[in-house]
Amino acid sequence: MPQYITAGESHGQGLVALIESFPAGIPISLKEINHQMFRRQQGFGRGQRMKIEADKVKILSGIRNSKTLGSPISMFITNKDWVNWRKIMHPDNPVSKKLSPAQKKRAYDVTAPRPGHTDLAGAIKYDTKDLRNVLERSSARETAARVACGSVARQLLEQFSIKIASHVISIGKGTLKKKKLSFDDIYLNADSSPVRCVNKEAEKSMIDAIKEARKKQDTLGGVFEVRITGLPIGLGGNAQWYNRLDANLAQAFMSIQSVKGVEIGEAFTNAAKFGSQVHDSIYFNEKQTGNQSKGFWRKTNAAGGIEGGLSNGADIIIRAACKPISTLMKPLNTIDVKSKKDTLAMIERSDICVIPAAAVVGEAMAAMVVSECFLNKFGGDSFNEIRDNFRGYLEREF
Ligand SMILES: Cc1cc2nc3c(=O)[nH]c(=O)nc-3n(C[C@H](O)[C@H](O)[C@H](O)COP(=O)(O)O)c2cc1C
Repeated sequence: MPQYITAGESHGQGLVALIESFPAGIPISLKEINHQMFRRQQGFGRGQRMKIEADKVKILSGIRNSKTLGSPISMFITNKDWVNWRKIMHPDNPVSKKLSPAQKKRAYDVTAPRPGHTDLAGAIKYDTKDLRNVLERSSARETAARVACGSVARQLLEQFSIKIASHVISIGKGTLKKKKLSFDDIYLNADSSPVRCVNKEAEKSMIDAIKEARKKQDTLGGVFEVRITGLPIGLGGNAQWYNRLDANLAQAFMSIQSVKGVEIGEAFTNAAKFGSQVHDSIYFNEKQTGNQSKGFWRKTNAAGGIEGGLSNGADIIIRAACKPISTLMKPLNTIDVKSKKDTLAMIERSDICVIPAAAVVGEAMAAMVVSECFLNKFGGDSFNEIRDNFRGYLEREF
């Protein structure tokens, strides 16, 4: 099973994406990886940083002539902003000797932890009063490397007609009311909206909410949704808690910076209904035998495509709630970790709202998790071996 690992600080030289145990012979397009990198950088409400960075991936190993080799895949994404930070972030620079007083302050006097960030807990955990040592890695700049990994994972899945899409359901009070959307409604339309919203009226309400937050020098959160289509029935695990597909997706989505809630299907709405109103009745159509769900199908999908930890052949639907961005231009009260005196939280250049970008990161997390459970079931060392296993499962009579 593949392992996806990232490294790198927000203002360091760059980010590293590393994929271990990925099968050989999978066609990989660098152009497609860079397209996913571009998608992560879009969205109304992003900050200055996105104007500096135009993320491009350099593949260092594991791919030859656009196909995976079975060896570790490593990728590098340069931080363009590094030129402005090299004296501060250099791995072996004796910093203090080379910095101007203003740079020294920026480098070392980061002592006012921001409520909502890792700053305080991280400082105590790692025993440092230099909060930059903590915040550099906690920053969601790291999600660029996740998207690079996710793009490799989704290129494998697409070989088996498994596709992933995302859209935004709410930003602040701006909400998409119409929820009955097909996979293609989202897949084909979300990218053209500056807030990844497929309904014009709702899009306007989201943009207005961001404009209002900007005017007030405040920030916003929201809810995004990721869908996965084409997944065969029976992926994941029902026998051990750590193999359940819903559990693994929830863990992956919760790991996205600012995500504080995850639901599969209409979980929170379903909680207030009777069982008879919620569960998706099962039907059978012989003509569909041999497909992803062996002819079994549902008219509804309140379960969000997962029952008992296993995919049930319907589209998987995951929603994630993000808290508002924590760095505030009108900062909250905090305590200076050196002087222990009252002060205002530090201000680091920041986004106002990141829900559209978080949705693209969600797609990458979904791709990583699904590739793991897909290879757990159909895995092999090469593309051909996996394809044979996959076909065998689909063609086996039930
Ligand atoms: C794509 C993306 C971009 C983000 N950009 C910022 C930002 O510019 N400023 C900020 O304060 N938080 C930003 N965040 C959120 C913080 O990284 C996150 O709130 C913080 O690391 C604390 O982690 P937690 O919210 O998961 O507890 C961003 C999150 C994502 C997903």
